[in-house]
Order: sequence, then structure tokens, then C-alpha cells
Amino acid sequence: MSELTDLYKQITSCRRCADLAKTRTSTVPGDGPEHADIMFIGEAPGFHEDRMGHPFVGAAGQFLDELLASIHLRRENVYICNMIKCRPPQNRDPLPQELEACQPYLDRQIALVNPKIIITLGRFSMAKFFPGASISRIHGQPSRRGDRVYIPMFHPAAALHQPKYRSLITEDFAQLPGILADLAGVQGEEPPMKAEQLSLF
Ligand code: URA
Repeated sequence: MSELTDLYKQITSCRRCADLAKTRTSTVPGDGPEHADIMFIGEAPGFHEDRMGHPFVGAAGQFLDELLASIHLRRENVYICNMIKCRPPQNRDPLPQELEACQPYLDRQIALVNPKIIITLGRFSMAKFFPGASISRIHGQPSRRGDRVYIPMFHPAAALHQPKYRSLITEDFAQLPGILADLAGVQGEEPPMKAEQLSLF
């Protein structure tokens, strides 16, 4: 069994948040290749995710799929997970103690998948990597730290309710291929490759 599969097993039987463990239908550990180059981190499973055991399978997920398709990326080629792995009742915001309890699972996922790029979706995952920042100010701006690039983005669910966010997140996605191409160049693949030629596509 791979270490990631083993981690999923641990998550499945997790009872660190007794209340969430009681109300959940399934845990939602995450989906994607064990060594994906890009990891998306959302907030928490919603109704459909809780039923299916997979992240971003509801309306926000459909929009995420559209965004991925708009830059010729496929869901199967990226890793998608959430800050917390169980649905909060009525889709309320995750509580600080829930974020804290689930943090070791996410940290382990990041260590095992070891993505080149982490894209945060919404304010909770942004706060993990950009504490105190305002999403309106920093969305779409890549931040390189060591070998990894972090890009904060609006949550796709925000775009479902407010058209202004739909265009902002679409624009932020549109610059991803350029960032990927730069990254491939920096990492010594000569000549710098076009986004379509990257192994990610
Ligand atoms: N919103 C999230 O943040 N994550 C999901 O998996 C679904 C909706």
C-alpha cells in the first residue's frame, strides 16, 4: 500500500472531530495522482462531496472542471483536496479546532504528493500559506518559496454567486500556463517549453 493510500485509510477512520465524524456520510481525503505537479486546496466537503467521498463534485466542482478545461488541464492530472476532510453541518465555515485537527493530514498529503505548485481556493486555504493576507489584493499572484510556487485564488463557489468573481478567477486561471512554462524554464528544461508541451498537460 502506498503511503498516500495508507493516509486515506487513517482519514477514513478519523474521529478527531467527534461532531463531524458523527454527521458525515463519508470522509473526503482527496483525489489525484500521487505525484501531481499541481495541487488545489479548497475549504471543506459540501453536500455532494460528503455523499460521494470525492472533492469538488458539486456545482463548484463543475466550475472548477470548466476552469481546468479552459487551460487544457484535466482533473485526472491534478491533485485536489480540502483543508478539512469532513463536511461541516449545513456547510458552515470550518472551526479553528477542526482546521487544526485536520492540519496534519493536509501537511502529510503535501509532503507525499510534493507538488510544484499549490493553488489555494478561497480564504481558508489562503490563510494557511498567506496568513493575514486579503484575497482581493493577492489573488492570482504567484509566490515562489524554495522549489514550490503558491498561487492564491478565489473559491469557485464565490464565482457561482457573483459574476465579478467568475471573471477574476477565469483570468487567474488563464495565466497558469505561463507560470507553468516559466517554472519549466527555471527548472532547466531547455528551451523553455510551451504550456501545452509540459508533462502536466
Ligand atoms: N467546496 C470546497 O471547498 N471543497 C469541496 O470539495 C467542494 C466545495
